[in-house]
Amino acid sequence: MSGSRAPQRDRPWWESAVIYQIYPRSFADSDGDGIGDLEGVRHRLDHLVQLGVDAVWLSPIFPSPMVDFGYDIADYCGIEPMFGTLADFDRLIAELHARGLKLLLDFVPNHTSDRHAWFQESRASRDSAKRDWYIWRDPAPDGGPPNNWTSDMGGSAWELDPATGQYYLHAFLREQPDLNWRNPQVREAMHDVLRFWLDRGVDGFRIDVLWHCIKAADLRDNPPNPAFRPELGDKFKVLQHHSANQPEIHEVAAGFRRLTDTYGERLLVGEICLPVETLMQYYGTADAPGVHLPFNFQLLDAPWEAAALARIIGDYDAALPADGWPNWVIGSHDAPRIAGRLGEPQARVAAMLLLTLRGTPTLYQGDELGIGRVDIPPERIRDTQDVRQPGLGLGRDGSRTPMPWDDSVHAGFSTAEPWLPLNADWHTRNVARHHAEPGSMLNLHRDLLALRRAYAALSIGDLTVLAPHGEVLAYERRHDGERLLVALNLTRAPQRLALPDGVTAEVLLSTLPHRHFGGELAPDEGIVLRLEEV
Ligand code: NOJ
Ligand code: MG
Repeated sequence: MSGSRAPQRDRPWWESAVIYQIYPRSFADSDGDGIGDLEGVRHRLDHLVQLGVDAVWLSPIFPSPMVDFGYDIADYCGIEPMFGTLADFDRLIAELHARGLKLLLDFVPNHTSDRHAWFQESRASRDSAKRDWYIWRDPAPDGGPPNNWTSDMGGSAWELDPATGQYYLHAFLREQPDLNWRNPQVREAMHDVLRFWLDRGVDGFRIDVLWHCIKAADLRDNPPNPAFRPELGDKFKVLQHHSANQPEIHEVAAGFRRLTDTYGERLLVGEICLPVETLMQYYGTADAPGVHLPFNFQLLDAPWEAAALARIIGDYDAALPADGWPNWVIGSHDAPRIAGRLGEPQARVAAMLLLTLRGTPTLYQGDELGIGRVDIPPERIRDTQDVRQPGLGLGRDGSRTPMPWDDSVHAGFSTAEPWLPLNADWHTRNVARHHAEPGSMLNLHRDLLALRRAYAALSIGDLTVLAPHGEVLAYERRHDGERLLVALNLTRAPQRLALPDGVTAEVLLSTLPHRHFGGELAPDEGIVLRLEEV
């Protein structure tokens, strides 16, 4: 490869970085309880180095009753014993940093666990000093919930507390009461949480459901959703106009940002599921700076068609604020696996898309192996979302199955039966096997990441989407005289690819075994070409 190394310049580190999401329960188990842990992660850092990612985002590792597998936090400043200790954490971050890797933690500000001491105190009586830390209201005149808001996990968003005769609000499970972000003491306490981890050296946070944190002050009813169908789940019964995305959220985000900025170049990634125009507001303004990267989830369910993808990419790029840096996500612990949706040949193309677009990519553990759909037998379902609203296909266990490391017992993930089943093809789809196989999904990811590192045009260059031709999605990436063309055949048929006028092309990487480019893309082929003007 002949490209220059991506220059560091005065750009913040995350602009040229690739983030890798670790779901700690399912990455690697060091103590034989069938559940991943911090020591497991630490023992597998070589995988991340060989893959070539720059930063790790760890889904929650804090003490938790695990009703929502760590997104129900009982203590923000500790480590869940099942995952290890603070000493394990300190060792992990030191070893990540020693390898030049950054660490992002998951910050969950919208809700705590109902086991959190704050909530225990809040629910103890109507006059509790922490009553107002959560959102309590009297029943409606008929004794029912105070308004029509629904929980994302099914049912009403209100739970009656018989002891004090009031309802509390929970946007997610009833075991996840929502904090009251209009209360300054809550803000201060949560800022202390950020400081606690920043002081321990973390490089930033992924912020859980940021757009949910503030609700309309008067808690008025949400409008009914005209497009509701029961199979969508209760979340979609009403439009979340008053329960989320309120103007005051931007001041909350600015508070996080001002605080983290005092620690230097720390990254804030916001989980925000809103249409693009609204999403852009979460970058903030000069006066009220927002998160650096409001997660861009559009690829998770984009139609796999060249025209649609070209529009999504072009519109997103055009909508970005002047100094807003883009980002892309194609998998997570909440979304169906991309390889399950598209099949492996197109999942290879999708990997090339994710890792050659302009913006910081987030790669979800296991996608580098092309793990597909894993069907979970009913008796092994663990996701409370699935248990509470069964039969709607809302379960997320299928994307949370353990990492298969090799073909030894339990795929080298654990010495015990893992908490969720492995992917059925783990005997052949595992890290060790893919490591040894040229052209494997894992090696494709390594090659893509190496290419991204070698060519600044790919990490930080400009992007121009070319008019789609047939089912080929093509875009140019340019930087400092480097000119790369990425062309993705989204079909199982060969497709012609016309080069721009006046250039010759050299193949830098194909999703298929390396070959010469002769004006055509093979079925399911994605290709990165280096263009040279003649
Ligand atoms: C988003 C997280 O990604 C998801 O896993 C969780 O259930 C909800 N937030 C609630 O915290
Ligand atoms: Mg364990």
